[in-house]
Parts: sequence; structure tokens; C-alpha cells
Amino acid sequence: MSFIRFYFAAKTKYRVHSPFVFEFINNVLEDKRNFYAFSSVESLRNLLKQDPKVLKVNDLGAGSSMNKGRNRSIGSIASTSLSPPFVCKILFKIVNHFKPEKMLELGTSLGISALYQHFAALNSKLITLEGAEEIADQAEKNFQRLEVDSIELIRGNFDETLPIALKKLSKLDYVFLDGNHRKNATISYFEQCLEFADEKSVFVLDDIYWSKEMTEAWEQIKSHPKVTLSIDLFFLGLVFFRKENIKKEHFKLIKSNWKSWEMGFFK
Ligand SMILES: C[S@@+](CC[C@H](N)C(=O)[O-])C[C@H]1O[C@@H](n2cnc3c(N)ncnc32)[C@H](O)[C@@H]1O
Repeated sequence: MSFIRFYFAAKTKYRVHSPFVFEFINNVLEDKRNFYAFSSVESLRNLLKQDPKVLKVNDLGAGSSMNKGRNRSIGSIASTSLSPPFVCKILFKIVNHFKPEKMLELGTSLGISALYQHFAALNSKLITLEGAEEIADQAEKNFQRLEVDSIELIRGNFDETLPIALKKLSKLDYVFLDGNHRKNATISYFEQCLEFADEKSVFVLDDIYWSKEMTEAWEQIKSHPKVTLSIDLFFLGLVFFRKENIKKEHFKLIKSNWKSWEMGFFK
């Protein structure tokens, strides 16, 4: 789906009748606060963008369509492969709103989105998974730079590390799926995570329109019988398992004052 089609199909808060979704819009999409953590993480991102050091990258998933090379500079990864600031701020606000205690991220890369999610819930447990060794080394350095020692990074292919992480967490309040953008892999990670979810859990998927495969994965996940509510923000998709939602509901949402350039789509 193109962003233009999404834009015209999406609702603002003025056309949403679900109190749960209305609150989500107010506290997440329309919350204009700038938290202290935003500037620290963005200063780090800017430093990384200028870092010429080359890392060996064994990308185990369907990686960036812009750069398939095995060796990449930190600057190139930071400029093209991370969730942009506006998405990271939304992730922060999602975590801040739902206050999950046990959080998991698939796809650490340089640790930028992990830092945002950690700063939104300082006392919660966050495990993040990364398969590329030298990228994982750099993410750990980045955590140290911001004096964060409580994010647990597990290295290796998700196929092996996801079951380990799920066992360690024992329950999953929140997951951010942002690695290996292939259809079957995404559905398999979703199903494995689902075993550890309850009706308050929130699952967030990145890049749901990045490729045909990702859109198919998103459609299949949305229609899973346990998913009772889904929210499509175009760049992110969220699913919920709330029992209060007796009838399945799906929302395409957009901020009421959204400026397209803010998201960088037309840059
Ligand atoms: C898009 S990046 C993550 C960006 C990060 N969440 C952010 O926004 O700051 C995806 C990462 O997932 C890792 N990855 C992809 N497939 C993987 C797999 N099967 N096992 C382990 N890591 C994988 C890649 O090495 C890459 O660093």
C-alpha cells in the first residue's frame, strides 16, 4: 500500500469510538512531549552516522534493500538501517503508555530503538536479539556510552536465540519485531511469542508495508484468531489480544495534525 492510499483510508481521533484506541491516540500519537532521553539517544545516533569504521555484517534476515554488502560502515548502518527518530519516539510512547514489565526486541542493530524502549521503562526487563557479531559489539558499546547496563543483548540467529529469550522472560508484555523481514520467519516469531503473551500484551511489527512478504505477514497476523484488535500506523503495526474486544477490530490511524515531511517519506 502506498502512503497516499493509507493517508486517505486512515482515521484521526475524531472518528474513533473505541475508548482504548482513543486513549492510545491521545497518549501515544498525539503526545507532543519531548522526553530527556530523546536528545541523548539522538546525539548518539548523530555520532554514529559520522563513524567511518567498517563492520563485518552477516545479515541473517531480509536486510536493507539499499545495502546488501557484507561490510558496512557504522555511518551507513546508522543512516539507512535503523528506525528513524519519529518511529523511535512512538516506540518510546507506546512503552510509556502500556508500561510493560517484560520486553523483547528482535533486531538490535546499533541499539538505538532498544535504548528508546529501555528509557521509557527503566525498571522493566528488556532483552534484545542480534545475529551480526560486530554489530552486537557496537550496540553494547553504545549502551555503555549512555551508561545503560540493564539491557540484555543475546547474540545469534533468532531461530536459536528467540526460544532462549522467551524462556528467560517467562512471559511477554511487549515485543518489537524488527529483524528478518521475511514472511514465514515473521509469522513463526509471532507464533512463538504468542505462547508467552496474555491479554494485556502488545506486539509491535516494523515495516509492515516494506515488501509484499511483510504485508502478507501483517495480514496473516492481524487475522490470527487470538488477535482481537490491530492498529496500523503504516510504518508500524500493533496487535492486541484483549478479551474486552469481543468483535475483532482493525484501525488505520494517523495523527490529526500529521505533516508528511515529518516522517521523511518524501525526502
Ligand atoms: C532493521 S535492523 C534493527 C534496527 C533497530 N531495531 C533500530 O531500529 O535501532 C535489523 C537487525 O536484525 C538483525 N537480524 C536480521 N535477521 C536476523 C536473524 N535471523 N537472527 C538474528 N539477527 C537478525 C540484523 O543483523 C539487523 O542488525
